[in-house]
Amino acid sequence: MNVNEILAQMTLEEKAAFCSGHDFWHTKSIERLGVPSVMMCDGPHGLRKQEGEGDHLGINKSIETVCYPTAAALASSFDRDVMRQLGDALGQECQAEDVAMLLGPGLNIKRSPLCGRNFEYFSEDPYLAGEMGAAYVQALQGQGIAACAKHFACNDQETLRMSGSSNLDERTLREIYLPAFEAVVKKGKTRSLMCAYNAINGTFCAENKALLTDILRDEWKSDAFVVTDWGAIKDRAKGTAAGLDLEMPGGPNATGEEIVEAVQSGTLSEADLDKAVLRLLQFVKDSVEQRRPDASIDRDACRKLARKLAGECAVLMKNEGGLLPLKEKQKAAFIGEFADKPRYQGAGSSHINVPHAVSALETAGDAVLYARGYDAHSDTTDEVLLNEAIDMAKKAEVAVIFAGLPDAFETEGADRDHMRLPDNQNELIAAVAAVNPNTVVVLHGGSPVELPWLAQVPAVLCVYLGGEQVGAATVDLLYGKVNPGGHLAETWPIRLQDNPSYLNFPGEEGIVTYAEGNYVGYRYYDKKEMPVNFCFGHGLSYTRFAYSNLRTDKEKMTDQDTLTVSVDVKNVGSVAGKTAVQLYVRDTESTVRRPVRELKAFEKAELQPGEMKTVTFVLDKRAFAYWEPKCHDFFVENGEFVVEIGESSRDIRASRSVRVEGTVVLPFTVTENTTIGQLLKHPKGKEIIGNMMRSSAMSHVDQTDTMGEGSERMMQGMMMGIQLGALVSYGRISRKQLKELIASLNA
Ligand code: BGC
Repeated sequence: MNVNEILAQMTLEEKAAFCSGHDFWHTKSIERLGVPSVMMCDGPHGLRKQEGEGDHLGINKSIETVCYPTAAALASSFDRDVMRQLGDALGQECQAEDVAMLLGPGLNIKRSPLCGRNFEYFSEDPYLAGEMGAAYVQALQGQGIAACAKHFACNDQETLRMSGSSNLDERTLREIYLPAFEAVVKKGKTRSLMCAYNAINGTFCAENKALLTDILRDEWKSDAFVVTDWGAIKDRAKGTAAGLDLEMPGGPNATGEEIVEAVQSGTLSEADLDKAVLRLLQFVKDSVEQRRPDASIDRDACRKLARKLAGECAVLMKNEGGLLPLKEKQKAAFIGEFADKPRYQGAGSSHINVPHAVSALETAGDAVLYARGYDAHSDTTDEVLLNEAIDMAKKAEVAVIFAGLPDAFETEGADRDHMRLPDNQNELIAAVAAVNPNTVVVLHGGSPVELPWLAQVPAVLCVYLGGEQVGAATVDLLYGKVNPGGHLAETWPIRLQDNPSYLNFPGEEGIVTYAEGNYVGYRYYDKKEMPVNFCFGHGLSYTRFAYSNLRTDKEKMTDQDTLTVSVDVKNVGSVAGKTAVQLYVRDTESTVRRPVRELKAFEKAELQPGEMKTVTFVLDKRAFAYWEPKCHDFFVENGEFVVEIGESSRDIRASRSVRVEGTVVLPFTVTENTTIGQLLKHPKGKEIIGNMMRSSAMSHVDQTDTMGEGSERMMQGMMMGIQLGALVSYGRISRKQLKELIASLNA
């Protein structure tokens, strides 16, 4: 297939029509030119291939397959290798099922715990989300299957997801909401992106030239094609002009007549249309060339992988007195409906058709007692179930309660109303903990919940929505066959009200204002030094790790250099285990608002008891920079930075300073409104104003008597705040001199 030759033979009508899908899951074919139709399917944590006619609501079943851990769980592994194994397996399955593109990964940021689709997203931290996404994309595409990073961008809630506008400033967009996409584009080389339904600052993503062309193509140098989220386009021609390639789902009525008319009337250039067609033809060509018709899939091997990955993702949140792991001989009671019917995925387009989800109860077998404890479809306590559970807990040495969010709470299309577990579950946990001090809570769900009973229970294991094998993996973890090594990819606040988006979620009149700016997740909680239930990066293990010998290859650098950082990590416990070695960077002096620390690198380390490994990271400019709207770029301010190694954002084990000099000078225009304080920060201004201050009476005025204690500080403050124009009013210089001064400062 020669894409340029095919393009040259296509009529305007054919080109326009080709930019819409044939049906729910297929691109259009052009038979006379030998261009086949290819299929795309939902993922991202399993293959949702619909049989028969496609529809949006999943009315027609999809094929029976394997459901892996959801993104919320996967991110907690802090392990790129977990993502690679998943990407590989899904790529092979797509080959076997003749699917050319899998719609994922989901890269939206967890701005609020209430977002109904949080289970499909990785993290509140853009670096972590980007790294996990990029590893998945590389592996999937390594199997010849296109990835489709979604939902580009700022689609961080379900309320008004198709029509609302996410309004935010440039710095917040660039530091929080775009970097995960940037990583998946630049590092992962994603073949495709799905533009979100919503608008950003009033412009719909599907028609957003700044997003789809200026940033994606010109700045990030991507040749990926952009597909709409299903039904996201309003003005077809405007979309094409903005850099949108494919409208989905399309169908027989999507003939592209709007595009044809726009080209004919001159409002859309045919060159822009050609670019879109070429990108799509290239995708079809690559898919055809990389297709392996003989590919097959071993679903038993996939199930084993799903169990292994679920084990890698779980987070041991609390384990007082070493209650976990359980001993085989301990009499344990499994309590709660989820022990029998695990929650393992959320609702909506990512929903996988699973023949059988393995429960913890069937895995543990007769070794454990069981009481249902609560009705998972209700909020109200069933006294019979509660009393039965309490009686059983009294008889057992350990009570393991399987709790979590019910199905209806987590879905595409709707946000949660609150951050609580159902009342009947909270009541059950408190009641069981009151009669059995050895109570363990296993939490299921794609997002944090409030934990009112936390102080009463010694152990909590969070398995998130861990895929169809989550029950088996939970038993592996509870009994120590697998050592928990997951770390939280998001903060667990104490109450919903503590969340930084609380006052502006889900917005009003179709507008959601991201007023918290870049203070999302731990960036906010840590700045406020706010107590939380569990902080970002937190995760315990059945062993312990010690850190030593943190070193850097430089003490001073410019923003053009790289910094190599190494640290020795040792397993000082008695069992093998894994930990997420997290590297944060702290800016100690800054003129702009910056979080206390930000994650800039991480590595998963696996260590045998007594074993030590050196973990090495290489940091570049981005690790020290913030987005500076004055130069529309990432920018490093001169100063002292601290490189920190931690086991969470609040458990820093080693740190080292480094001085970084920025090589970019920001544009600085002096006006009559520029203050003395601002001028003193500018090299030239400092010299001129410094001289003026020394020669005038401005610097040495002793008015302690007349203006009271603290007047020196007051004088200093007032002086720094004086704008240049006022120097004329105060009779320090003439207006003519002021004009000359400003001109010379701007020269
Ligand atoms: C979702 C996408 C999904 C698409 C196709 C949309 O409603 O937002 O994530 O890929 O449907 O099912």
